[in-house]
Order: sequence, then C-alpha cells, then structure tokens
Amino acid sequence: MSVSIKTPAEIEKMRVSGRLAAEVLEMIEPHVKPGISTDELNTICHDYIVNVQNATPAPLNYKGFPKSICTSVNNVICHGIPKPSKVLKNGDIINIDITVIKDGYHGDTSKMFHVGKTNILAKRLVDTARESMVEGIRMVKPGVRLGDIGHAIQKKIEKQRFSVVREYCGHGIGTVFHEDPQVLHYGKPGVGLKLEEGMTFTIEPMVNAGKRHTKLMKNDGWTVVTKDRSLSAQWEHTLAVTSDGVEVLTLRTGETI
Ligand code: MF3
Ligand code: CO
Ligand code: CO
Repeated sequence: MSVSIKTPAEIEKMRVSGRLAAEVLEMIEPHVKPGISTDELNTICHDYIVNVQNATPAPLNYKGFPKSICTSVNNVICHGIPKPSKVLKNGDIINIDITVIKDGYHGDTSKMFHVGKTNILAKRLVDTARESMVEGIRMVKPGVRLGDIGHAIQKKIEKQRFSVVREYCGHGIGTVFHEDPQVLHYGKPGVGLKLEEGMTFTIEPMVNAGKRHTKLMKNDGWTVVTKDRSLSAQWEHTLAVTSDGVEVLTLRTGETI
C-alpha cells in the first residue's frame, strides 16, 4: 500500500477538477424532477462535461462502465447505470455521482436529490448520510487516523438505527480514479493510516435504512442494491489534507461543511 502525497501544483489541478465536478451537480439540479429519465440526466451531464467544461467524464468506459455518470435510485446503493426506461417519479430519492478528469486529475463528488415530495424516512436517511459525511470531513487533519474517521461516521449512522455499507468505500484519488488508501466508513479509533498534508481522498458513506448487506445485480454487473430492498443514500466529496485541516475540493456554491 503506497499513498501518494500531492504537491501544491497537483492540489491546484485537483481544485480545478473538483470545482468542475461540483459545477455539474449544480447544473443538473433543476433537471431532477418527476418524468425525466436517468438516461436523459446522463446525456445532459455528459454534454456539459465534454462541450462546456472541455473535460472528460471518468466513468465512461471505466472498467467497462457504459455511461458517463452513476444514477442510483431508492434501493440502489451505488453504480446505478443510467437508462431510458428508468423514469423518476414523485417520492424517489436519487444519488447522482459525477467524476470528471481535467488536465489529468480527477474530481469525484455525489449528492442526493429528492424527487418531488418524499417521505419522512427518506428525509431522515438522506440527512443522516450527509451528516455522517460532514462528521468525517470535519475530523480530517494531519495526525488523525482513518480508523478514527470511519468510527465517527459509523457511530453517527448507527445512532439513527441505520446501517453502513462495508463492501464499498472512499478512496485515494489524483491522476488515478481509485488509488490507495481505502477509506472505510466504519472502524476503530486509533487504528489505520495516519493522515499527512498533501493526501487527497474521498469520503462517501453509503447508508441503508435496513440491513447493511448488498447485492450486485447479475444482469449488468454494476448496479449494487440493498439485499433487503431498503432505501439507501450516499454523499461524496473529494478532500485534500492541509497543514492544519482539510480543504473540500468539490464544495458547491453556498454549501457549508
Ligand atoms: N464515482 C464512483 C466513486 O465514487 C465510482 C464510479 S465507478 C463507475 O468512486 F465505473 F461505476 F463509474
Ligand atoms: Co469516489
Ligand atoms: Co463518486
């Protein structure tokens, strides 16, 4: 396991790619309404990334992934494939996960959207997932261990009697989409990698309303769903460890951590 330390010049490039990824989520927000298909969302994001941002959508053809963004609706945990037949309806929740490459560097971020009017469980799940991510982000600084962060995220989630997905995690990021370290969203205080200035990685907890167990859909080899068909929510930011804390490279306009 080797964790790369980015130079200030590299972090500046990641600031650019992170900002672009954030801007895609800002751009798509007004389109996330009942009646639109996840394939239409994919097309709008793809065209924006390619034609407006002059950047590259990292998921497209990544290990064979067929689309430019991930769209994960309701009981889909992550890696949902946009398709014309998946039309959003009132009451759905959806995670849209955007990764762009600009000047060789990746920016990776996702957020949840409520489609029309959602129920109280969906709201509590989505809010808890975000709060757990924020809790983790706020802890990031040199000297803190990944186990400290995973433990804090897990505690926040389980206090609400929701569960944390174990099979998928955050990751180092830079010129490579997924690099060391693995950033688990559960764990034990005092164990794991000690953070250092210049590390860049994501925090992206996946939170299930029911049990934590996952199932990979055999028909497409990508879509991950909750085994018990319960709702799932996820948020993600790309981060850089600074000399005394953290910089959120994918922060959206008006967003506070
Ligand atoms: N963006 C996802 C992540 O947060 C990875 C998607 S890989 C894909 O790590 F191939 F499904 F696009
Ligand atoms: Co990621
Ligand atoms: Co992502």
